[in-house]
Amino acid sequence: MKLVGGRETSYDAEPMAGFKRTLARTLSLVGATVFLASCSLFEKVDQPLTTFDPAGPFAERIDGLFWPVFWIATGVFVLVEGAILVAVFLFRDRDGAKEPKQLHGNAKLEVIWTVIPALILAVIAVPTVSAIFELTECDPDAMQVEVVGHQWWFEYNYPEEEIQTANVMVVPAGEEICAVMTSADVLHNFWIPALNGKRYLVPGQETVLRLQADEPGEYWGHCAEFCGLSHSLMRARVQAVEPAEYDAWVASQQQPANVPEEGSIEWDGLQVFLSRQCTQCHTVDFEDNEQGIQDNIVADGAFEGPNLTHFSTRNVFAGAVLPEEGETREQALKRWLADPPQVKPGSFMPDLALTEQEIDLLIAWLGGNQ
Ligand code: CUA
Repeated sequence: MKLVGGRETSYDAEPMAGFKRTLARTLSLVGATVFLASCSLFEKVDQPLTTFDPAGPFAERIDGLFWPVFWIATGVFVLVEGAILVAVFLFRDRDGAKEPKQLHGNAKLEVIWTVIPALILAVIAVPTVSAIFELTECDPDAMQVEVVGHQWWFEYNYPEEEIQTANVMVVPAGEEICAVMTSADVLHNFWIPALNGKRYLVPGQETVLRLQADEPGEYWGHCAEFCGLSHSLMRARVQAVEPAEYDAWVASQQQPANVPEEGSIEWDGLQVFLSRQCTQCHTVDFEDNEQGIQDNIVADGAFEGPNLTHFSTRNVFAGAVLPEEGETREQALKRWLADPPQVKPGSFMPDLALTEQEIDLLIAWLGGNQ
């Protein structure tokens, strides 16, 4: 036992050395954290889900709010933590020091440190509330796309163009899109960080989200609400293209699916599709054809899988998680068709125990299914 600062302590080591060591450790830990955080904040490395790389006016509106609030908060942090450090070092307990003056119940101080934060919050509230209102309502002239959440993929309907697609939402660059959203099963949340914030998809209700990409490009998104086993595999992709390219895409999607030539490998693939349980969930819109292939339309309200008309025009599938990097489309399709729940746990596309030959035929048909 040794007396330190006039009081008994239970350790003999030099107390200041221990304190300095702890302080040095804490500071280096804080420094490393700040360094790592700033790396990811300011470096535009390959981060498809970063909110710090806005690509359109709505995401820019959010970004424009974030930075002033961030710097105000940083200022408050530095002032408050600085004051604490000054107090810790300047007014620390010394040998024979008297008890410091107590401030409890000082009305003037209480008012000051209540009013200052209230004022800061009031100032931040003005642009925040106006941004919330601005981002909540679509321009009435904006083009509409209906977004329907499913476990675990997004369906996109273009009501005016009469197009139904999945996983890839194709939009014209430089134009506002009004996403009118709902869910077919549980709560989902549609989030394309480069284009806007998050918005819930609620069964039986409609929510809207304004989207706009100024430049052509691919913008990744993700379901942002835990929605079951494969929530982490429920991705979204917005593909913004030049207006002329968009018009061409619309015209091609409005065409019915091709019926392959009888006797071809694609034809055999189509027979696999028609004879296994695929038709129960997947719509394919066939043209009037001599071969007598009927449209396979899954009724609204029935359990739906993605509409497979023009499947081959989508560069991602299976909740936009396939193909994975370094994998060809064919390899990914093989893996997917062989055992869907293996790729996406809980997948409602069952393992149909397709033979390797059936899988090859289906891929041939899907590949040519423009
Ligand atoms: Cu849908 Cu998470």
